[in-house]
Amino acid sequence: MEEHAVDLDWSLGQYEPTGESLLPISEIVVAMSEPLAGKRVVDLGCGTGNAALLAAARGAVATGVDPAARLVEVARKRAVERGLQAEFLAGDAAAIPVEDGTADVLLSIFAVIFAPDADAAIAEMARVTAPGGVIRLTSWVPGGSMMTINTVAGRFMAEVFGSGPTPDPEAPKPLAWHDEPALREAFAKHGLEVEVEQRSMHLTASSPEEYLTKSGQHPMAVSAAQALATRPDSAQLEADLAGRLLTAVREINEDPTAFQVSNNYAIVTARHG
Ligand SMILES: C[S@@+](CC[C@H](N)C(=O)[O-])C[C@H]1O[C@@H](n2cnc3c(N)ncnc32)[C@H](O)[C@@H]1O
Repeated sequence: MEEHAVDLDWSLGQYEPTGESLLPISEIVVAMSEPLAGKRVVDLGCGTGNAALLAAARGAVATGVDPAARLVEVARKRAVERGLQAEFLAGDAAAIPVEDGTADVLLSIFAVIFAPDADAAIAEMARVTAPGGVIRLTSWVPGGSMMTINTVAGRFMAEVFGSGPTPDPEAPKPLAWHDEPALREAFAKHGLEVEVEQRSMHLTASSPEEYLTKSGQHPMAVSAAQALATRPDSAQLEADLAGRLLTAVREINEDPTAFQVSNNYAIVTARHG
């Protein structure tokens, strides 16, 4: 994913509307992973619990893991409200709080792709997945609204705040989580074989402006706004960012009378070879 010049705190703002819009993708990936009754399922980067709760509803022993404390709380509350047995833990892809070889199914829906050290995250996923188990993650393919907004905002923030110190040659290498050859190579290092399939989901709104307004409470937007608020010219910077985002989403709009965009995504399935 695009590097952000500011820290991204997924507990900020309101992730919930985005979580709702991504629920159909968790439904697809959980259905692909059936049968789940009695299986131990880990949902890495569970957010508000979409995939873990769907797995629990199918009889899995589900554990959700996420670094964002507020989202973990929301997921726990949802489990109670729905009468589902699911455990939700604070944790990160770099150190998944799960014993070695205990996950029959490890899911990560648009989540592990945010881990700063992809290689460490893959090592951890390989460690916790049982022999014969499966890892299934999703990743955006460049071109849709999700990656476009992320890229445009990331570049803008890097222009405003600088892209940080001179790149450290020892720093972890970013991974193109949608790219089959890159994934094959990255997962093979940890003894995993990979298959990739592409799908598409559509997002609609009454206009590009409404789409961006609805995204205004997303944790990325709130993190960016908080960082810009520290600048004396914050009002102008916020207006400039809004203008760039509007131009970018107008360019990818497929419906001249309203707003529709196709977001292509990869479903990556990995198994111990
Ligand atoms: C786009 S949300 C997806 C949430 C959920 N899987 C869903 O489908 O709604 C990305 C999630 O990844 C989590 N995340 C970010 N960095 C992470 C990391 N290093 N390790 C694990 N999860 C991470 C965020 O806290 C957030 O909940």
